[in-house]
Amino acid sequence: MVLAGGVLGRKISAAEKAEALDPSTLKAFVDPLPVPAVAKAVGVRQNPEDSKEQIPFYHVAMREAMVKVHRDLPPTKMWTLGGSFPGPTIETQIAKGMIVEWMNELPAKHFLPIDHSLHGAGKDVPEVRGVVHLHGGRTPPESDGYPEEWVVPGKSQTCFYPSSQHAALLFYHDHTMGINRLNTYAGMMGMFIIRDPREDVYALPSGKYEIPLLICDRMLKTDGQLEYPVSEKTGEVWVPEVFGNAILANGKLLPYCEVEPRLYRFRVMNGSNGRFFRFSLESGAEFYQVGSDQGLLVAPAKLKRVTMAPGERADLLIDFSSMAGQRVNFVSDSFSILQFRVGKTAAGERGVVPEKLHEFERIAESSAVKTRQLTLDENMDDIQRSMGMLLNKTPWHAPITEKPVLDSTEIWELVNLTDDSHPIHLHLVRFQILDRRRFEAFHFQDKGELWFTGPVVKPDANEMGWKDTVRCDPNMVTRIIVPFNGYAGRYVWHCHVLEHEDNEMMRPFEVVKG
Ligand code: C2O
Ligand code: CU
Repeated sequence: MVLAGGVLGRKISAAEKAEALDPSTLKAFVDPLPVPAVAKAVGVRQNPEDSKEQIPFYHVAMREAMVKVHRDLPPTKMWTLGGSFPGPTIETQIAKGMIVEWMNELPAKHFLPIDHSLHGAGKDVPEVRGVVHLHGGRTPPESDGYPEEWVVPGKSQTCFYPSSQHAALLFYHDHTMGINRLNTYAGMMGMFIIRDPREDVYALPSGKYEIPLLICDRMLKTDGQLEYPVSEKTGEVWVPEVFGNAILANGKLLPYCEVEPRLYRFRVMNGSNGRFFRFSLESGAEFYQVGSDQGLLVAPAKLKRVTMAPGERADLLIDFSSMAGQRVNFVSDSFSILQFRVGKTAAGERGVVPEKLHEFERIAESSAVKTRQLTLDENMDDIQRSMGMLLNKTPWHAPITEKPVLDSTEIWELVNLTDDSHPIHLHLVRFQILDRRRFEAFHFQDKGELWFTGPVVKPDANEMGWKDTVRCDPNMVTRIIVPFNGYAGRYVWHCHVLEHEDNEMMRPFEVVKG
């Protein structure tokens, strides 16, 4: 995939270089991999959809915290949800609703550089704002964290998460209009697991053998602090992509993880602003993917490497039973991420990879009542400054054009007219990937014509499950089929490269009652 180049490329100035940390100068694998604490409810509240039911109530503060990312680095100032990075993991069961109050306790000034001129945010817009979205949640619109419904310090946002959906690894993160990339980069994210007791029959590794793994890159300086780049050309806090020099696993740089020689389950998510990962075991050993964004696949997919765009999740089974006594690095291309230290003996059963998981139907294309062709565009803005990104050549503030009918199914054909890969995410819904096709576009915008030049590429086995974020490669049409179930109301869809999202590659859509 092509990621940033040419006019979008960014040179690092000498001053920045001097300060940038070179992780190879640090001692690798000295910190144990932390597992985020599981959040605890602080009370109960009435279920807004069922007045007879009391449901758990959580209180999570948006808070500055000092996070120790490596033994030999000073603590890193971060903005967190819940005081740790990643934030506490919220766990629930399907159809067990909860209320979360996200309280803005952030200091009065952002520690990352803010550009007020961006995104129509006028001088009167406070720089410290926060609003939380549960990524992958089938959430009512008023609880979804609409980007413009941010709260300022001292105020809170109260959300109802019904979890009436399949078991899956979701994640919560900031979604504030125009500064989402900065708030999230500063650390405002954590994981959210919906479990289904009916999945116990697969006997997937659980308890200490199931490890959530939030992996993201950041630019770290030698003093341990986060750096966010400012454009050399314009001096603005808008760069098309940010790629960090340090890859953090559950907030640690180059940790180790002691495992027994047996089967483990890793719930992996890519929490980077813009980096795509290609994860593998350095030894070349195979592993299995049993689930993706929205839950289990039909059957485990055997892999040597898994590609993950920002916002995507992968449920991986790794069998260490033949690696007793070894040290195995978990890597992404040439980057080491963490080291598994496999013990000599397993305490109990070694676990087995199930042959089949749960059955579900592929949605028939014939069930779609509408097909929309939507473009992913680069937008050269001569008047304002540089390069921006758009969906369907339409800026954020233009009237809503996508209005699917509640309980209807649509096909969205995502036509990538840019040179980059974009992970496109829709709120509220889950979808299936139909296929991808290479095209040549000749005056596409004027004539509405595409010439297809390659074979129809069916999704790989690990992309055959339910998804909420899909990788759209350049010069390809990526076709998804989407049942618009759950709630009517206003949501958003966007690119999950957060720099793109904050620079107009986001649009509202509205699910309307039929
Ligand atoms: Cu994970 Cu709208 O985002
Ligand atoms: Cu993008």
